[in-house]
Amino acid sequence: MKKRIVTGDRSTGRLHLGHLVGTLQNRVRLQDEYECFFIIADIQVLTDHINSHEDIDANVFEVMCDYLGVGLKPENCFFVQSQVPELSELTTYFSFLVSLARVQRNPTVKNESEMYGVSQMSLGFVGYPVSQAADILAFKANLIPCGQDQLPHIEQTREIVRTFNNTFGKEVFTLPEALIGKVPVLQGLDGVQKMSKSLNNQINLAHTTDETLLRIGKMVTDVQRVYRKDPGHPDSCFTYKYWSIFAPDAMPHVRTECESATRGCKECKMELASYLNIQLGEIRERRARYASQPDLVWDILATGTRRARQVAEQTLVEVRDAMHLSFPRLAKAAERMVQNGSA
Ligand code: TRP
Repeated sequence: MKKRIVTGDRSTGRLHLGHLVGTLQNRVRLQDEYECFFIIADIQVLTDHINSHEDIDANVFEVMCDYLGVGLKPENCFFVQSQVPELSELTTYFSFLVSLARVQRNPTVKNESEMYGVSQMSLGFVGYPVSQAADILAFKANLIPCGQDQLPHIEQTREIVRTFNNTFGKEVFTLPEALIGKVPVLQGLDGVQKMSKSLNNQINLAHTTDETLLRIGKMVTDVQRVYRKDPGHPDSCFTYKYWSIFAPDAMPHVRTECESATRGCKECKMELASYLNIQLGEIRERRARYASQPDLVWDILATGTRRARQVAEQTLVEVRDAMHLSFPRLAKAAERMVQNGSA
């Protein structure tokens, strides 16, 4: 049997370059080797978007187009978190295995809550890593390709595996591992914070070539280089870092021309933007093809959601059994009611 990958993203909008190098490339690379479950985490969006959840349906569609656009095959299992109620059931059980002090220590949740306003934080917000553990364990994942910010959640998941198996005396779950992409945290175009839609310092996979040119054009470069004729300092230039990530082969000539002041910062960024546009071209074309066939995209999600429910239900049977929540006499009584025609 193939090992399993479970991973996914919050559906807050379109995915960007940070997602690509942080996790999507790994997913594309491993999709044939593993059985993959890709979750679109709409419940998790409620953490900090409880008052602006009305575009959730549109955002789920956008994330699906991004997934298919980067080259994840439609045969994989794609599903919407809230449409697999088994996950919520498992979350409820897991929430009794984790102390409140433990969830409050999660560094990613702490960061997010500071951005959001700690006093506004709901119970669901502090507890979402437990719900994420349910997402992962319902499918008995072996591997989770994700960004570095997800590591505390994977650690939390591993703790739940140990606690569950010990508490109920059965090896229902096995320990999953995280897999971080080649760029664990991609800084946004401001060169200061991590790339993120909410900071508007991102390049979306779906941005047009012109938009990409415009955005890269605003990127910070070498702050020590005041005049065009001054030699540049690639090692302390933020734009050069992007060259190293997205076009490493071009680094030697970019360095030489920068240090000898034969290349200006503006033209350097324009050239970088064209490299990016070339690399994203295939993704954008494929994405546009799917985006123009919404029924097909929703069909892929419907198939995935059905399959996800079947797999999660099998796990839940084992979980309820281990927890003494199977109630065989109740199940028999329900069967009798069906036979008597009273149900
Ligand atoms: N926390 C992830 C994000 O912020 C989304 C997510 C939900 C997830 N459930 C998951 C990731 C399970 C990996 C595995 O985008």
